[in-house]
Amino acid sequence: MTYHSTTNPRTALVALALLVCLGSPAAHAAGNGTAIGAAIGTAADWPAPGGAADESSFSRLDRINRDNVGKLGLVSYLDLPGEASLEATPLAVNGVLYFTGSTAKVYAVEAVSGKLLWQYDPEVWKHNPDKVGGMNVNRGAAYEDGRVFAASIDGRLHALDAATGKVLWIADTIARGTRYSSTGAPRTFGGRVIIGNGGGDLGMRGYVTAFDAATGKQLWRFYTVPGSPEDNRGNPAMERAAKTWRGEYWKVDAMGIGGSGGTVWNGMTWDPELDQLYIGVGNGAPYDVEVRSPGGGDNLYLASIVALDADTGEYVWHYQMNPREAWDYKCTANMIAATLEIDGNPRKVLMQAPTNGFFYVLDRETGELLSAEKVGKANWAERIDLATGRPVEYPGIRYESGEFTIFPGTTGAHNFQPMSYNPDTGLVYIPYMQMGTMFRRGEARPGEFAFAGMVMKNVALEPEDGKGKLIAWDPVKQEARWQHQQDTLWNGGTLATAGGLVFQGTADGYVTAHDAATGEVLWRFNAGLGIIGAPSSYTVDGAQYVSLLVGYGGSASVMSDLMDAGWKYGAQPRRVLTFGLGGKQSLPPSPGPDMAVYAVDDPAVSIAVDDIAPGRTHYALMCSMCHGMNLNSAGSPAPDLRESRVALYPESFSAVLRNGVLQRGMPRFDYLPEDVVRQIHAYVRAGARDLPGVNAPVDSAERAVR
Ligand code: HEC
Repeated sequence: MTYHSTTNPRTALVALALLVCLGSPAAHAAGNGTAIGAAIGTAADWPAPGGAADESSFSRLDRINRDNVGKLGLVSYLDLPGEASLEATPLAVNGVLYFTGSTAKVYAVEAVSGKLLWQYDPEVWKHNPDKVGGMNVNRGAAYEDGRVFAASIDGRLHALDAATGKVLWIADTIARGTRYSSTGAPRTFGGRVIIGNGGGDLGMRGYVTAFDAATGKQLWRFYTVPGSPEDNRGNPAMERAAKTWRGEYWKVDAMGIGGSGGTVWNGMTWDPELDQLYIGVGNGAPYDVEVRSPGGGDNLYLASIVALDADTGEYVWHYQMNPREAWDYKCTANMIAATLEIDGNPRKVLMQAPTNGFFYVLDRETGELLSAEKVGKANWAERIDLATGRPVEYPGIRYESGEFTIFPGTTGAHNFQPMSYNPDTGLVYIPYMQMGTMFRRGEARPGEFAFAGMVMKNVALEPEDGKGKLIAWDPVKQEARWQHQQDTLWNGGTLATAGGLVFQGTADGYVTAHDAATGEVLWRFNAGLGIIGAPSSYTVDGAQYVSLLVGYGGSASVMSDLMDAGWKYGAQPRRVLTFGLGGKQSLPPSPGPDMAVYAVDDPAVSIAVDDIAPGRTHYALMCSMCHGMNLNSAGSPAPDLRESRVALYPESFSAVLRNGVLQRGMPRFDYLPEDVVRQIHAYVRAGARDLPGVNAPVDSAERAVR
């Protein structure tokens, strides 16, 4: 499951994450020799989501370094009222930060002073209110030649004047009335800009679209999976892919939902050296491949990296990581282009740690697999066969003989949070997650979710499951150099610097600088709220700074039992923070994490027992992606309804659903029949009453601890 909108509460489905773990990473030497540190990464500015085109998230600056990082302090901060989940990495150009909020509002902030220069609101609620029903996240902006680009959830790509925030052009990238959405950061590539979209979990057919950066004119579009036989005719990449599909996967049902998937909602890397674009293709839908493509087929180009000619958008090569994808596995993580010395030869490589738990090194000229090893717990394949490029799968993983709990689960060993690469240490710094997902065909039991015949549940089986790690990975030897265990699962992306440091924000609200060579913690700052975005680094007037966004959330809301870090909706301000040597600012105090639920109840409100079970189903489909799975809203972009006085009484509950406050993210549900509203209300009330200590004086001993 991904972190983009499901676009319509009627059809929304919810993803899960589970946990498991398998021992230590494999230590299989794929070669020897060291990484070659060409001009990788960025210097004075941080103009792209991953820093430079290579997506290395590496800064060549070394003014902040191992020796002086202890003097790092807060230089400025800016509160971002109205924001929820903040996933973007701030861009920095000439001392100005450009980033997006949860609904792709674009901000321009003077880094050193923290002064807001301008903001631009795409006002999705006004233009396409049907798109307000999903989880609002956005992974950032792109910059080129005085223009800033961002895509809003309704698929509009906005080009703004970087100096003023004025709109230069807006291009529509998705057709109205479809279940697509857009949450990713666009990428610029030599006067052009590219954006993909989300909706793959609903079976939407993935594609990317390239535009002229100056005019907004569409240049080309590439589909990641085949369409109907007529659509494919004459297109070699689609004709070839169609041979790997069975059934009528291209047909769209009455709800506007198809049966293929493969959206490109995050990772895209431009390779100016080879004039190629690499796109990271997502999972298929329905997840059950026997429903999606009955009887066989690899289902190209799902769960693949595809290389495209940057000028024409034509297919160049692909590498599929999960043939016949069946577990929401996706290649949507960032892809780093570098040159590594492998077996004595410099090789132009592309590196990715997709959700499936392996680390892949590909030859980016040909797409050939050079090596792949497990970075953590992965129980679905023994290894990847280098001769065929295909995984050697274990039996049972395709739930063909009943329930199977797969590791990594649907959220993956590594997700959208960027990994970084430091050519000096030769290491890749991976924000790793350990968790699994149970898959089974059939009917869902309480606490499980069903989607297209597939039942899923998150599980954590061993002590390290449900937790994250910062892993320093040697991509040449394909083994971990060091690992830093974390208590929380859903942490931020990493920044590597030539100062010998790795920066990461974590779900517990800390920004940490590690020694890049050893992992030792050299500096920590309490940001007061969990972090899922990645930091960037740049200079202003010769001084080096590090900035990042603080705003826990994202898919955490639908997986809250595993990702609950105690951050309640609206309790802590969302912010952009900037650090520099000698910084002396401090943040105003805000409430710390709190795992308790302060449920409210009024025994006079009566509910019908028969309403509870159907209410649970409606809630799961329409409300959980914002208010949290199983009513637990920790880390969610919406309040916990068990704690809400508005949700207490049927009249006020119903009024909120009818009137919705779209600007603040609560969709309008005025089409719901009165009995459905009553059933959801009954489920919420029953959930509140189930908690111990409800109506008792709030005192730590009696809080219902999640
Ligand atoms: C797209 C995200 C989203 C979805 C889906 C969603 N909500 Fe909300 N809801 C919100 C947000 C955000 C708020 C808080 C709005 C505010 O602060 O003004 C809210 C507020 C509410 C409130 C008022 C709570 C209070 O104390 O003010 C109720 C009741 C509510 N939602 C019920 C529901 C129900 C029932 C569903 C499913 C049928 C649902 N919501 C689906 C985002 C969502």
